[in-house]
Amino acid sequence: MTRAEEIARNLAEVRARIAAAARAAGRSPDAVRLLAVSKKMPADDVRAAIAAGQRAFGENYAQELRDKAALLAADSTLPTLPAPPEWHFIGPLQSNKVKYVAGRVALMHSVDSPALLDAIEARGAPQPCLVQVNVAGEASKRGVAPGDLPALLDRFAAAAHVRCEGLMLIPPRGDARPHFAALRALRDREAAVTRPNVDLRELSMGMTEDMEVAVAEGATIVRVGTAIFGPRPTA
Ligand SMILES: Cc1ncc(COP(=O)(O)O)c(C=O)c1O
Repeated sequence: MTRAEEIARNLAEVRARIAAAARAAGRSPDAVRLLAVSKKMPADDVRAAIAAGQRAFGENYAQELRDKAALLAADSTLPTLPAPPEWHFIGPLQSNKVKYVAGRVALMHSVDSPALLDAIEARGAPQPCLVQVNVAGEASKRGVAPGDLPALLDRFAAAAHVRCEGLMLIPPRGDARPHFAALRALRDREAAVTRPNVDLRELSMGMTEDMEVAVAEGATIVRVGTAIFGPRPTA
């Protein structure tokens, strides 16, 4: 099997897992989008996934995203593929790297502070975002504390360029279900508040290990790397 065939097979398996989980939860499989996490994987792997019908790709490193997107945009075979890729940023973002991401990605998943929101807004380009929430209150994890979420959403409401389209979560190790449920409950609570520029329709949660549980708990975007591309290089 070639690498491209392996990626196509893995993608089909992941799509089937997501669809089965959605049906089991009484949800339409179309209600869940698959984000292929291509972090540390070469542009050739992304091209193989696009050829297999994958559209959305998630990257954690700003320069890697910039370089991979440029490489693929310059690829003369791209027009023969089903659709151009759509890039999502899912990692921590330092303010000096905002220029590589703001206004350039379909969705920025990891807004986790007023300062980052302000830096993205200051670029002056429309940018749909999600807020990363640290529902478990882990000291080592990024994300806003649930108690700080309303103030951050109020800041979106006052912005001219950024929009908030939902919430994102990286759960602690162990059983993720209560954390997924907590994120959904937070979303439901804040969705009851009307704010300009804020429409909390997306829940970005679930990875290779727990995508089915996330779908059962209402995920609208699952971020899957290993099950599609295999283990990431450690270097
Ligand atoms: C924010 C985020 N989401 C999703 C993933 C994908 O995880 P997995 O390879 O377990 O599917 C990663 C991987 O690093 C990640 O950093």
